[in-house]
Amino acid sequence: MKKCQHLISHARLVTCTDGPQALGTIESGSVALDQGVIVWAGPTSQCPYQGNDTTDAKGRLVTPALIDCHTHLVFAGNRANEFAMRLAGASYEAIAQAGGGILSTVEATRQASVDELTQLALPRALALRAQGVMTIEIKSGYGLDLDNEIKMLKAAKAVGQAAGVNVTTTLLAAHALPPEYKENRQGYVDLICQEIIPQVAKQGLADAVDAFCEGIGFTVAETRQVFDAAARWGLPVKLHADQLSDLSGAGLVAEYGGLSADHIEYTNDKSIEAMAEHDTVATLLPYAFYALQETKKPPIAGFRKRGVDMAVATDCNPGTAPTTNILQCLHMACTQFGLTVDEAFLGVTRHAAKALGLDHKKGQIASGFDAELLLWDVDDVAQLIYWQGDQKPTLICG
Ligand code: NIG
Ligand code: FE
Repeated sequence: MKKCQHLISHARLVTCTDGPQALGTIESGSVALDQGVIVWAGPTSQCPYQGNDTTDAKGRLVTPALIDCHTHLVFAGNRANEFAMRLAGASYEAIAQAGGGILSTVEATRQASVDELTQLALPRALALRAQGVMTIEIKSGYGLDLDNEIKMLKAAKAVGQAAGVNVTTTLLAAHALPPEYKENRQGYVDLICQEIIPQVAKQGLADAVDAFCEGIGFTVAETRQVFDAAARWGLPVKLHADQLSDLSGAGLVAEYGGLSADHIEYTNDKSIEAMAEHDTVATLLPYAFYALQETKKPPIAGFRKRGVDMAVATDCNPGTAPTTNILQCLHMACTQFGLTVDEAFLGVTRHAAKALGLDHKKGQIASGFDAELLLWDVDDVAQLIYWQGDQKPTLICG
């Protein structure tokens, strides 16, 4: 028998590996963990390992740790007043055009220090962690100038340290036009391309670059400039695309070989083809769809038909997705968008990892992948998803 640090046995093992069966479930499975890595996974009856520590799962579910691949969880203030305004009939776009929306969070976030932002965001990250989320993507986008965008990215990294989760950071300077550039759109796009992206890249503060391509955000031409600058600095791109209207944003980010197109309610067939061609993940954000009381659903049938991988994320932010409940988002992905349970679960494991460029080491239980696993007190993934979000798994790290 070979030796390893930790051996899990007799688990209903949901490997999320890429095989003929969607979730790659092994009915009575073992996983051997050593020095932070999975060294073996397969049927308990064939396991060649003995562990210094052992966990007998007794038939309960063991899955990869979850991944929330789209959040804006570093911010100050709140937008409860806008919730009330929307209930009274104001639209998200009208509130933004009147200077509220993203810009009201920018005002509050600019006034906060790195430490204050970190302390405000920590409970949000811990709430996700309690549901088994061990990797969180966090965007900037409420700073909208060099110093404040850098401040947000530093806070995001500090949150990861403090919460004990992996954080990937995304620069979203092209989220809204800051008030000081109201009459000078191109000036702000130049600032992003010539100063913010180069500085952030030089300091190693971002893993990707994102933009909000929309009538109330940035045009296709402006988004192209941002993506070209990201490419010059070797940063992969993703995009808030086709959320409120169809600007062919998903096709645009795919053309740049982007990691993901996110929201994508209005995405057209040509864009879906481009996503399939460039292997760009479709990231679904059902909580934002629900909170904005949208009616146009993302083209799930088209993604399925062309084999576009779908991720699911919280979009945690103070405007359109005031939530840290990823299990509830899975429930909503099924009830609102019609995903199957298996599709939804792959959306927070293998496909979420792919949306972050981490699909070589996260989101699956397979030899060589990071040893971050969850033991759930259920024996079936459907039980995690149908019941709205209060299951708390035990984390097993190697
Ligand atoms: O993903 N749509 C743009 N960005 C965020 C909302 C940010 C906000 O309203 O503060 C989103 O929905
Ligand atoms: Fe978002």
